[in-house]
Amino acid sequence: MSEHDRWASRMGLVLAMAGNAVGLGNFLRFPRLAAQYGGGAFLIPYLIALVLLGIPLMWVEWTVGRYGGQFGNRSAPGIFARLWQSNWSKYLGSLGIALPLLFTVFYTYIESWTLAYACFSCTGSYMEKDPERARREIPVAIEGVTPEDLQAMWAVQTLIAQSDANQDGQLSRAEWTDPNRPFEQLDTDADGVLTASEVRAGAALEKVDVAGSFLLSRSAWTGTGEAFELLDVNADGQLDESEVQRVMKPLAGAHTNRFLQDYQGVSEPEQRTYFHSLGWAIGFWVVTVLINTWVISRGISGGIERLAKVAMPLLFVFAFILAIRVLTLGTPDPNYPDHSVWVGLNYIWEPNFAALTDFDVWLAAAGQIFFTLSIGTGAILCYASYIRPQDDCILTGLTTSATNEFAEVVLGATIAIPIAVATFGLANTRVIAGQGSFDLAFVAMPIIFEQMPAGRLFGALWFALLFFAGVTSSVALCQPLVAFLQEAFLISRRRAALCCGAAMIVLGLPMVLWLKAGYLDQYDFWVGTFGLVIFSLVEVLLFAWVFGGENMWQEIRRNADIQVPRVFYYVIRYVVPLVLIWLLAGWCCQNFHAVILLKGAKPETVPYIWLSRATILAVIVATAVLVAVGRRWKRSLSA
Ligand code: PHE
Repeated sequence: MSEHDRWASRMGLVLAMAGNAVGLGNFLRFPRLAAQYGGGAFLIPYLIALVLLGIPLMWVEWTVGRYGGQFGNRSAPGIFARLWQSNWSKYLGSLGIALPLLFTVFYTYIESWTLAYACFSCTGSYMEKDPERARREIPVAIEGVTPEDLQAMWAVQTLIAQSDANQDGQLSRAEWTDPNRPFEQLDTDADGVLTASEVRAGAALEKVDVAGSFLLSRSAWTGTGEAFELLDVNADGQLDESEVQRVMKPLAGAHTNRFLQDYQGVSEPEQRTYFHSLGWAIGFWVVTVLINTWVISRGISGGIERLAKVAMPLLFVFAFILAIRVLTLGTPDPNYPDHSVWVGLNYIWEPNFAALTDFDVWLAAAGQIFFTLSIGTGAILCYASYIRPQDDCILTGLTTSATNEFAEVVLGATIAIPIAVATFGLANTRVIAGQGSFDLAFVAMPIIFEQMPAGRLFGALWFALLFFAGVTSSVALCQPLVAFLQEAFLISRRRAALCCGAAMIVLGLPMVLWLKAGYLDQYDFWVGTFGLVIFSLVEVLLFAWVFGGENMWQEIRRNADIQVPRVFYYVIRYVVPLVLIWLLAGWCCQNFHAVILLKGAKPETVPYIWLSRATILAVIVATAVLVAVGRRWKRSLSA
C-alpha cells in the first residue's frame, strides 16, 4: 500500500473531515431554512436531531469506515461485505458509490456558480452602474402584510372581477357560478350578495387564476394600517400586479436576479442583457470539475489533505471577516430602525416553542442535519477507511462535528440572515429565503455588496468562502467512486480520477442545459434528501443488527479517546432506525402530490423531470453492475 493511502496527520484528518462536512449547506442551506421556518423555532428541532441522529450516525460511519479500512476496503461495497457475509451486501454498498457520485454532480454545478460570482465580484460585473437606480430596487418592507394575505386578497379580487357581470363590486346569486361552494353558505349575512370579505372568509381560493390583470382597490382591501398606501407606489388608489409582486416576490425585478437568470440560461433568450449564452456557466463549471478531478488525482494526503490545510483556514478567516463586517453594520438606514442586524440575530436566536408542533419544521431540521454533517452518502465512510485501525473515531468524529456546527450555527447564521434583515427588513428576508437558498446568496447578497463600501472585496470574500466550503465537500463526494474503481478494477488513482471527472461531465451536462425544467431539483430531492436517509438506514441496520449489537458496541468503543455513554448503544440500535423510518414516511406524505406524483408541475417540464429520475436510476443500476463485474472482489474479500 502506498503511503498516500493514509491521512498523513491527525490535524490533516480533522481538517479534511471538517472540510467534508462544512460546505454550501452551512452557508446557503442553513440560513435559508432558519429564516424560512422562523429562526429560533428551527433551532430546537435542529439541535435535537443533532444529538439523536447526527452524532450517533456520525460515529457509526466513522467506525464502519475504520473497520472496513483495516481489511484494505475503501468503498462501501467491500466494507458492507465485511459487516454482512452475503452476496447482497455488496449490492447494498453500491448505493455508497452511486449516491455520492450523483450528489457531486449537482453539488459541483452550484459550486461553480460560487467560483463565477467570486470573479464577478472582483470585476463588479453584477453591479449596477447607477447607484441611485440600484437603491430603488431594494424592496420597501411592508411589515404586517404577508405574501399569503396578499395572494388571497388578489385571488378574491380577481374572482369577483371576473364574475361580476354588472360591475357593482359584489356577486349576486346569479353571478355566482362555483358549484363547489354553495352561495348560501358563503353569504353569511344572508343579504343575497357576496362581498369580497365573504368570499375570502368562505373559501380557500387556490383554484382562482391570479394572473388576471385586475386592480385591487382601496375598498376591496382588508389589510390593516397604512399597508395599502405603502404598496400603492404610484398612488393611483389601486394596486396593480407589479405593486403586489413587490411583496410576493421582493427581488423578482432586481437586476441581480436578471443577472443570475441570464447566467444560468433560465431567462427568455430575447430578454437577456448580461449573458447571451451558457458559455460562461459551462466554462466555470468545467473548470470546477477539473479542479476537483485534479485534487482527487493527487490522492488522500497529497491532494485532499493538502487542499483542506489551505482551504479550511482561509474559509474561517473569510467567515470571521464577514461576520465582523455584518456585526458592525448595526442599523444602516436610520429611516428604518427595525432593519438592523440585531433584529436579524434576535430572530435566529430567540427560541419559539410553539413551532415544535409543526411537523414540517422537524422534517426540515432532520434533513439539514444529514446534509450538513455529510451523513448518508458514503463520503465519510470512505474518508474514515483511510484512518489507522488503532486510531480514535469518537473524539475525532466529535471534533469535526463540532467544527461543522460552529461554522453553521455561529458563522453561517451570523452572515446572510442578519445582513439581509438589516437591508431588506425581516418580512422581506423571510420571503426571499422562502424562495430558496439561491435567491438569498446570489440575488440578495450581491445587492447588499453593491451598496457597501469596498463591496467588491466583501463580495469576493463571500463567494470565495462559499467556493472553498464547496470544493472541500465535493472532493469528498468524488472519493468513493475513485476508491472503488481503484480497488475493484485495479486501475491507477489518476485514471480513476479521470473516470470520475468524465462521469461528472456526462451526468452534469443535462443539468446545466435544463436547469429551468427542474432537472436539478430532482437530484436535490431524491439524492440530497431521500437518498441520505435510505443509505443511513441500510448502514445502521447492517452495523447494529446484522453485524450484531455487541460487536457494534465493541467496535465503536475500540481505541476511543473518550468514553461513550452506554445510552448510545440503545440510541443507535433502536432510536436511530425508528426515527429514520419515520422520516421516510414523513417525506413521502409531505411530498407525495407535488414532488412524487408531480401534481401541478408545468407540463413542458415533465419529460425532463422523468429523464432526470431515469438518469438517477440508471446510475444506481450501473454501479451495481460494476460491483458485480469488478475483478478484484473475490480476492479482496478473502484477503
Ligand atoms: N456537508 C456538505 C455541506 O454542508 C454536503 C455534503 C453532503 C458533502 C454529503 C458530502 C456528503 O454542504
